[in-house]
Amino acid sequence: MSKEVSLEDIVSLCKRRGFIYQGSEIYGGLAGTWDYGPLGVALKRNIMNLWWKMFVDDRDDMLGVDAAILMNQKVWQASGHVDTFTDPLVECSNCKSRFRADKIDTSKCPTCGQKDTFGEPRQFNMMFKTKVGPLSDDIKLILEKGFIDKVNEEFAANNTDQKEITLSEKQLDHGGDYVSYLRPETAQGIFTNFKNVVDSFYPDVPFGIAQQGKAFRNEISPRDFVFRSREFEIMEIEYFVHPDQWQPEFEAWIKRVHEWLKALGLPDDKVHELEVPDADRAHYSQRTVDFEFDFPIGREELLGLAYRTDFDLQNIQKASGKSMEYRPKDGSAAFVPHVIEPSFGVERAIMAVLSAAYTEDEINGEKRSYLKLPTQLAPVKVAVSPLLKNKPELAAKAREVYKMLKAEFGAVMWDDNGNIGKRYRRQDEIGTPYCIVIDFDTLEGDTKDTVTVRHRDTTKQERVPIDRLIESL
Ligand code: GAP
Repeated sequence: MSKEVSLEDIVSLCKRRGFIYQGSEIYGGLAGTWDYGPLGVALKRNIMNLWWKMFVDDRDDMLGVDAAILMNQKVWQASGHVDTFTDPLVECSNCKSRFRADKIDTSKCPTCGQKDTFGEPRQFNMMFKTKVGPLSDDIKLILEKGFIDKVNEEFAANNTDQKEITLSEKQLDHGGDYVSYLRPETAQGIFTNFKNVVDSFYPDVPFGIAQQGKAFRNEISPRDFVFRSREFEIMEIEYFVHPDQWQPEFEAWIKRVHEWLKALGLPDDKVHELEVPDADRAHYSQRTVDFEFDFPIGREELLGLAYRTDFDLQNIQKASGKSMEYRPKDGSAAFVPHVIEPSFGVERAIMAVLSAAYTEDEINGEKRSYLKLPTQLAPVKVAVSPLLKNKPELAAKAREVYKMLKAEFGAVMWDDNGNIGKRYRRQDEIGTPYCIVIDFDTLEGDTKDTVTVRHRDTTKQERVPIDRLIESL
């Protein structure tokens, strides 16, 4: 029986084998940021590519976009994020530690242990604010009427004793192009392109627009490895439906999400649906189902499915003055579409995949740990080795096989370090489904031009002719 995987098992494997490192580690790190190493980037891309294939390429009702991360701040005003994308923050009056009020027992400080040191929570906006363009710290702004309201009081206050520039009324009216936010979700890049995509493609409703990319949230307490990061990747779909059709479409998306989780190799009994109660739903949602997973840290949200109504398109319509109405080709009444939004966090998918795949067993009295990854997700598909590194005839033949497989599968690794047993363990640990060994039998006799193929999960070995290798893999 394999033991339950712990978060430490995953973190240690990721660091040791080059999946995920702490961000800026060499300078002591930066909380909530993570860097992907060679195997991590391969795993992440495999997950993201599989998602794109399943939800965009394999369907005929889906279109992709890749919008800018920096957007006009009006996007975040209209979407409600400037006002409501907040978490409740409390600070300990004794040790000054800060926490999310809804994640701790506020009667006692988790850092210093003092009782009753927290006051009332204040709402902390999680968006990273930034400035765009040449208005940097060495420039003094000549403040014109209405500027402070329009741009940012704090920015103005911090820039009073520096070089002068004059902003025209027009620039000011523009709403301050220079204040922007790192996007906290990719969804708004989809909504703001809804009209563009409809004008260019005129798809039939229902249809979806998909986007993958970075999102940034200034989390009060980043925690649990990549689970709650400050910079992470999201894959989102805004699926536009007729308002009368949102319920059946929502149910269809529940099924599709389960198909996705199956493709990730996650066991059914570790996946749970949570109907999110009214009080806990995001400001834009009228129904949300969270898909939770039994992570090593406990049962937690893996991804969300929300019915966003026409909240976003209506807000954009009001703020931009442009119509977001869709005109059906059959001449029936125009309407502002409603939206079903499945939103998938890539980091949480990676954590779920790694914890589901992490396996320990004992073969012939020897313990091993390996990643039972679905082949399509494995960072390395095949490892090729000469039995002995210092036998040129074996190495030359192995190189031939390696080149042939690399041309076919891409993610093929050359491995001639240590003895063959160690190579198998190393490849098992990173989830390589097949190891191929070129030995003396490959060079002569009845078995000439055959190789050993060793299977990760069973450790069984078989002899396969080189000219049938690609087909058999
Ligand atoms: N557009 C909808 C939206 O952003 P969300 O529930 O706030 O919804 C979607 O986020 C998904 O993004 C979550 O289900 C989770 O997988 C992931 N996610 C959210 N915050 C995260 C964080 N701080 N670190 C890693 N992943 C996060």
